[in-house]
Amino acid sequence: MQNVLITGTGRPQALGFNLAKRYLEHGDRMFACVRKSTDAFAELLSVYPEALTVLVMDIMDTPSVRAASEAVAAHVDRLDTIINNAVTTAPDYNASVMEANPDNISDSVNVGAAGPLRVIQTFCPLLKKSDMVLSSTFPPKRAASAHAKAEGKTNDSTIPFRRRQRSHYGLQPI
Ligand SMILES: NC(=O)c1ccc[n+]([C@@H]2O[C@H](COP(=O)([O-])OP(=O)(O)OC[C@H]3O[C@@H](n4cnc5c(N)ncnc54)[C@H](OP(=O)(O)O)[C@@H]3O)[C@@H](O)[C@H]2O)c1
Repeated sequence: MQNVLITGTGRPQALGFNLAKRYLEHGDRMFACVRKSTDAFAELLSVYPEALTVLVMDIMDTPSVRAASEAVAAHVDRLDTIINNAVTTAPDYNASVMEANPDNISDSVNVGAAGPLRVIQTFCPLLKKSDMVLSSTFPPKRAASAHAKAEGKTNDSTIPFRRRQRSHYGLQPI
């Protein structure tokens, strides 16, 4: 059983909501985050009253993300998985280069780029308590040598693995 948090789950026809539903069906503990209050989860809350908590969290807003992390910490001592599904598009996303208004893109950049960083930084203490260590949280060098040791390979064979680590995740260890 995992403790899972998903952002952007407010639309029953969309990906986030349905991922939350699948995790609940699988028996996991779900923290489903919505940008604004919604009754979309009414039915699921009646089926999974213990396993489902719906939280309002706007990933553009640091205090809102912090409040959500405090709410999660009041229920569980760790998070095993975070899916940052929340996304938005700029109003001019379909406009040509010369027609698009650059002043209209800041919210989508905030949600798409700063939002995931805000979420990971804020929930990091809960993620770190999980036994399910992701390779992206591993220092690449240690991951490479652990991998090589497991495979009984020489040091040379760890080089492509280290490169893959960086190119796949592009993250520094947390
Ligand atoms: N749909 C596709 O074809 C497709 C293909 C490949 C990948 N993806 C990826 O899959 C994910 C979901 O796609 P989707 O089509 O299901 O998107 P979606 O229907 O637009 O859902 C995105 C959710 O993000 C929420 N959101 C927007 N801004 C937010 C904010 N500031 N704080 C918190 N939540 C916010 C929205 O909330 P509201 O309900 O309040 O607006 C919405 O519920 C995205 O990461 C997308 O890049 C989608």
